[in-house]
Amino acid sequence: MISDGLFLCPHCGEKLNGKNGSFMCVNGHCFDKAKSGYVNLLPPNRKNSVSPGDNKEMIQSRVRVMNKGYYKPLAEAIGKIFAEFNPASVLDAGCGTGYLCGELKKSFPETEFIGTDISKFAIEQAAKKSKETAFAVCSSKRLPISSGSIDAVICAFAPVYEQEFSRVNSDNGLFLRVVPAKEHLFKLKEFLYDNPRYNEDEDEAFSLYEPLKVEYVKGEFGGDADDFNALVRMTPYYYHTSSDKLERLNKIDYFTVNTEFELRVFRKKADFQKN
Ligand SMILES: C[S@@+](CC[C@H](N)C(=O)[O-])C[C@H]1O[C@@H](n2cnc3c(N)ncnc32)[C@H](O)[C@@H]1O
Ligand SMILES: [Zn+2]
Repeated sequence: MISDGLFLCPHCGEKLNGKNGSFMCVNGHCFDKAKSGYVNLLPPNRKNSVSPGDNKEMIQSRVRVMNKGYYKPLAEAIGKIFAEFNPASVLDAGCGTGYLCGELKKSFPETEFIGTDISKFAIEQAAKKSKETAFAVCSSKRLPISSGSIDAVICAFAPVYEQEFSRVNSDNGLFLRVVPAKEHLFKLKEFLYDNPRYNEDEDEAFSLYEPLKVEYVKGEFGGDADDFNALVRMTPYYYHTSSDKLERLNKIDYFTVNTEFELRVFRKKADFQKN
């Protein structure tokens, strides 16, 4: 659900208001509201391909995996942080199928949740599922969102645009970054590769944020051949695994692998708050 003035016009930066099934700014730029309720704010000249971001197949895989509770422990861990910091507005940048927004909204009904992604397929799926969240197709590089309006930005397994996240973040705003931890899906790698390696520590240094804490969120993913085909299709392993190894996935009866997410919590630095 998109409230008036929440999103900005990608052409002129004025607020967008809902009118007769579309959204319009004072300068007459108009954007259709999709049946599922989201708005596409990615102008064609800002696309780097016809369909940027995750494709339909990747999104369907992600839906299947999320439905099996893949991110449940992660949503719970983020929920604990929200209970501590009480953000009134949350942006999930590169939200994919919108699982985190949808789950967190159930525990924090008063909080405004916004999900954005460059993939139309992702946002279509997300908007169908979570009616209480405002979804828009746009790039995290240039968010159609007012400066200083977001108390917490989540970015899970999606590209980070630090300057832009900091711009939309309110004073002392939080930034929650989720990356794979060392042992994430290691059992799956053992299944697929002859010499599996642990994930390397992706050390991201941010100049506009100060680190608050890091949490390691462990879980499990169990499923059959179709579930594991879906899981592999939403990871880079799909492109780095030979077809005979991928074929082995089809022989899975039931299998369980470990998940380990690294949840890094940052706070916007005071020096940059007025930028
Ligand atoms: C690995 S998926 C993660 C999705 C979701 N955050 C999750 O954890 O389930 C990466 C997502 O980033 C999106 N993406 C890629 N480039 C983007 C950009 N420049 N701006 C916004 N989203 C982007 C993709 O379309 C995809 O949905
Ligand atoms: Zn406009």
